[in-house]
Amino acid sequence: SNVSWDTLTLDVDDDGVATLTVNRPDKLNALNAETLEAMLEALDEAEAQDVRVLVVTGAGDKGFIAGADIGHMQELSTPEAQEYAELGHRVCDAIESFPAPVIAAVNGYAFGGGCEVALACDLRVASERAVIGQPEIDLGIVPGWGGTQRLSRLIGDERARRLVFFGDRIDASDAYEYGLVGEVVAHDQLEDHVAEMAKELAEKPKHAMQVAKESLNMVHEEPQNAGLAFERRAWSSLFGTHDQREGMSAFLDKRDPEFE
Ligand code: HXC
Repeated sequence: SNVSWDTLTLDVDDDGVATLTVNRPDKLNALNAETLEAMLEALDEAEAQDVRVLVVTGAGDKGFIAGADIGHMQELSTPEAQEYAELGHRVCDAIESFPAPVIAAVNGYAFGGGCEVALACDLRVASERAVIGQPEIDLGIVPGWGGTQRLSRLIGDERARRLVFFGDRIDASDAYEYGLVGEVVAHDQLEDHVAEMAKELAEKPKHAMQVAKESLNMVHEEPQNAGLAFERRAWSSLFGTHDQREGMSAFLDKRDPEFE
């Protein structure tokens, strides 16, 4: 199926893979309030369709998302800025808690809010053309959609400080070295490569995948003892499910599993 907004599309294929494409290429997919609202609706729609994997990407040659919309932000008052920050946080939180893996296909510029959207995803794959950074400092602001927190947790404090303080824009290979993306592929192979990854993940047992994501998210949300307690409960809750019995029987029978 395909659902479109003015600046966004959501495609869901027969394998249960949804692709959310920010489609505002003339502004390098900068996220204005309208696009953020549409992203929230698209995430709800994808969840309602019970998709197994979500891919987030940007339209056009220069790709991903060049940030929050600077034109929109320029004249904001503090309460208006708060509202705009809140909206972006809601989008990033919805991606992070989306009940299936979310892959950012970083096909070009991912700056500021664009980097922050990528950080909220479970996995990041970059094309060789990707350029990534948190250049807010040079606009007289700082990352405002969770970047200071998620960046530091993903790549470590020193590297996060370097990116946020200097506002440097780094290329795909430096982003890989930083651990900011998991993989770099040739630009013209990005779409196919991410589609293959998504298909593979979509075939995994759904409930176990959800528990895996939720448990890994706890690393960032709770002190370790709470996360360990959660893992113990969530782990045992998978026993007795069809996929657990099938996965284990298939292994012992030396055959491929057929998940629900
Ligand atoms: C609004 C943007 C934009 C942005 C690009 N455009 N980025 N508009 N917000 N973040 C617009 C340009 O104004 C221009 O519009 C068109 O997109 C094409 O951009 P160019 O600059 O002409 O293209 P190019 O020379 O290829 O340079 C690409 C670029 C550069 C390197 C990505 O556009 C750039 O540096 N953009 C800003 C990146 C940035 O600072 N992002 C962080 C934003 S702050 P016209 O109409 O002139 O054609 C942020 C805060 C998040 O994200 C937290 C919020 C709470």
